[in-house]
Amino acid sequence: MIIRAKVGKNGEVILTFANEFKAMHIDIITLHPGLLESPFQHSIVKRAIEKKLADVTIINLRDYGLGNYKQVDDAPFGGGAGMVMTIEPIANCIEELKAQRTYDDIIYMTPDGERFNQQIANSLSMHQNIILLCGHYKGIDDRIRQLYITKEISIGDYVLSGGELPAAILCDAIIRLLPGAISDETSALSDSFQDNLLAPPVYTRPAEYKGLKVPDVLLSGNPKQIDNWRHEQSIEKTRKSRPDLLS
Ligand code: ADE
Repeated sequence: MIIRAKVGKNGEVILTFANEFKAMHIDIITLHPGLLESPFQHSIVKRAIEKKLADVTIINLRDYGLGNYKQVDDAPFGGGAGMVMTIEPIANCIEELKAQRTYDDIIYMTPDGERFNQQIANSLSMHQNIILLCGHYKGIDDRIRQLYITKEISIGDYVLSGGELPAAILCDAIIRLLPGAISDETSALSDSFQDNLLAPPVYTRPAEYKGLKVPDVLLSGNPKQIDNWRHEQSIEKTRKSRPDLLS
């Protein structure tokens, strides 16, 4: 089974087969490591890490800070409110990481990046090694972007205090796609957005609650009818809640 396919530097297609599988490696550079503890200690993501499908290293950028105060930020040239994350700590940290492995992408989590979606999650899940850089304050010195960053990703059109929660969201979306992360392999494929449709409604026992009944078709035992019903429901739900996905 092919589990990773990507295009190399010279346009060649590089395939990775299941028997050559190496854990996807994710380095997260942050000023607030504590914010990234819990997201990796629960549920599917925790199990995927235990199964060695992914390994995640949280790197404290403060360790690369300059001087006695381990400074990582400074006032912006040209004036204005807020502080800017300086070049040297980030550059030194990234250089150290790059000396250890080759990265497919160095991603900066920022509200002015490309909007994250399932397609991006799918394509990042094919990567072997990535770095996620979490921004803070007014952002990073732009030269870090020019020198190192290969992708900028936003999780939505709103501004959070930093890139840690977005990085955790991105990791969750990617790690659950790694082969073996979810026991029922088809389950990740039937998620909302995998085919640009929202997922259909689901029900479990009891078959009736306060007069609300589970649709008969789901109790029919007829797989074809159930598939058709689910597909129709998906289209209907998408038309109502996210018509932009249909166009
Ligand atoms: N950092 C702050 N807000 C963000 C957002 N919406 N997406 C990604 N990183 C961010």
